Amino acid sequence: MKSLISPSLMCADFLHLGDELKKLEENGIEYLHIDIMDGEFVPNYTLGIDFIKKLKAATKIPLDVHMMVTRPENKLDWIPFGEGDYVSVHYEASVHLHRALSMIHARGGKTMLALNPGTPLSVIEEVLPELDAILVMTVNPGFAGQKLVPSTLDKIRRLRKYLDENGYGHVEIECDGNVSFENAKKMREAGANIFVAGTSSIYAKDGSFEDNIKKLRAAIR
Ligand code: DX5
Ligand code: ZN
Repeated sequence: MKSLISPSLMCADFLHLGDELKKLEENGIEYLHIDIMDGEFVPNYTLGIDFIKKLKAATKIPLDVHMMVTRPENKLDWIPFGEGDYVSVHYEASVHLHRALSMIHARGGKTMLALNPGTPLSVIEEVLPELDAILVMTVNPGFAGQKLVPSTLDKIRRLRKYLDENGYGHVEIECDGNVSFENAKKMREAGANIFVAGTSSIYAKDGSFEDNIKKLRAAIR
């Protein structure tokens, strides 16, 4: 499965977002990761609806919207995603998970089920046929700049094996949180193929933006 990069825009330099977007396009970046936090499911606020609208008008790079909100099924109608965009909802946040996933597909979006580090893989069973991807959170969601929860590497490995052995080889695995150059390599080896790039890689303070993109590409080759 091809490795893809999804930069976490909450880590972007908002004073120079236009320039950064151009560089992401020039470097063939595959997705734009947009964190929506509601101050309830996670203890923080981040990006919102109007930002996504402007972003969609400014670029053709598909979105990877990460909804860290309670009851996503009640809020999906607000999100301006379209054909080919990924939308992830958290297992822990949804009361009507099947309905939420159906709503994403009904609008031409791609479904991704997000799992916190403490959530077991077994919860995916009933909705597997509805999934295009699974997001294995490799830190507890809410903040950039955290340290990897080490057990999540083996979780990715077990998930990839389970998917491949049960007829779901097409389901992608995204990892989000402390995807450093070093960790990205391990995540790739474990079977992830979509990498959320934040302060640990392309938005790291040392190294230029473009060099960091190249370095991350090399790590997940
Ligand atoms: C979480 C977000 C960010 C992202 C930041 O949902 O998408 O926290 O992981 O990357 P790092 O962890 O490298 O700062
Ligand atoms: Zn995220």
